[in-house]
Amino acid sequence: MNAISQNPVGVDDAPSIVVRGDGPLKGTVVVPGAKNSVLKLMATTLLTDGVFELMNVPDIADVRIMGDLLEAIGVDIQRPAPDQLVITGNGDLTPVAPYELVERIRASINVLGPLLTRCGQVRLSMPGGDDFGARPIDMHIAGLEAMGATFNFSHGYLEAHADRLHGADITFDFPSVGATENLLTAAVLAAGRTTINNAAREPEISDLCEFLIAMGAGVSGVGTSTLVIEGVERGALRPVRHHTVPDRIQAATYLAAVAVSGGELDIVGARPDQMEMLLARFADTGLAITTAGNILHAVAPERLRSIDVATLPYPGIATDYKPLIITMLAVADGVGIVTENLYPGRFRYVEELQRLGADVRTSGHHAVVRGVRRLSGAPVKAHDIRAGAAMVVAGLAAEGETEISGVHHIDRGYDDLVGRLAAVGAAIERRD
Ligand code: UD1
Repeated sequence: MNAISQNPVGVDDAPSIVVRGDGPLKGTVVVPGAKNSVLKLMATTLLTDGVFELMNVPDIADVRIMGDLLEAIGVDIQRPAPDQLVITGNGDLTPVAPYELVERIRASINVLGPLLTRCGQVRLSMPGGDDFGARPIDMHIAGLEAMGATFNFSHGYLEAHADRLHGADITFDFPSVGATENLLTAAVLAAGRTTINNAAREPEISDLCEFLIAMGAGVSGVGTSTLVIEGVERGALRPVRHHTVPDRIQAATYLAAVAVSGGELDIVGARPDQMEMLLARFADTGLAITTAGNILHAVAPERLRSIDVATLPYPGIATDYKPLIITMLAVADGVGIVTENLYPGRFRYVEELQRLGADVRTSGHHAVVRGVRRLSGAPVKAHDIRAGAAMVVAGLAAEGETEISGVHHIDRGYDDLVGRLAAVGAAIERRD
């Protein structure tokens, strides 16, 4: 690792990440499993008893929080290896998701579908998670109501009841990831057939479908926008061993890191077929990417070119890629316009980039990014998981030292980001 000065800039005892833009990266990075899949797989184990084994599990804070939530509900969680979880249910479930755990991760909402269909009732604190604007759950609720559930809200808790859910024909006006997952898992034990039209098609949802099918659920239409679920009795379900799909957002983070630093990286364990649109747009910036099986080989150009990008549901460019893309454009040649179509408020990190000398202006759900040759290191904050990773990438593109606080956000979703970048030559360290 390259040398970094030992003068701490942080004003408190919270950990920080210190990074210096110090030349090209070279080597190999292995991509862990996807946070946005494994958390849903964990919640889905609530559908039946027995011993589930999840492989390719990322070693991140959100997995530990979801584990605590499942333990509070009544299942046993063991971690025999850092990338493996063993989840054992013995039938004694308390279908209550308490505030202290739910407010920490958005994905806690994913226990709603499995618990309601299995236990007939749920008491769930309203979910928290990343701070990028209002994140309502009206589509989850309307879909479950169409399947026979009733809801009450009081004192920050949502209470749901249904003696037995029944199948329904549901059409979303927007392909919500979370609502698709909750209705999909609820429908597995409902009476009859459920059809979800305009379902989200993210790779993590296909992973969940494969998991359910292996468990014995009647799911068809995997990977399409029409999912059809034939309800089964719980006795038809069995626990399974499952390999979590790789994290495409973490893979993109390492692509962005090499793009702004120069050099070349092999990113191993990725699924290029699940990143097609992003890879095409990164190629437009001049990043040369070749793929071989599960390896992405990326070679940075002398300087990136600007592009215009709009976020969309899969297979479009994911909103979670956007902070990385804006960071790349901040040092690219030319002007790029980035349009956010999912979360209008998701530009909070832009003011942090401006502190590093980036020329970014936002108006409504657009950002105009005028590339500068180099950013200039400064203390910055991570406001959420992806924005935090973008700050690290920005630090790689900055002259001098950038100290990132709010590291707990990064820890929620990144499995040793600092170690992985240091191993390929980045001047980066964590100060605990
Ligand atoms: C998931 C991901 C998140 C990603 C997002 C979009 C997890 C844990 N999180 O979040 O990282 O950024 O997908 O790819 O997997 N909406 C409603 N009503 C609803 C549900 C959603 O209005 O009932 C709106 C949301 O406010 C948002 C948009 O739909 O504007 C997308 O939300 P959704 O696809 O549900 O995202 P999440 O599942 O919350």
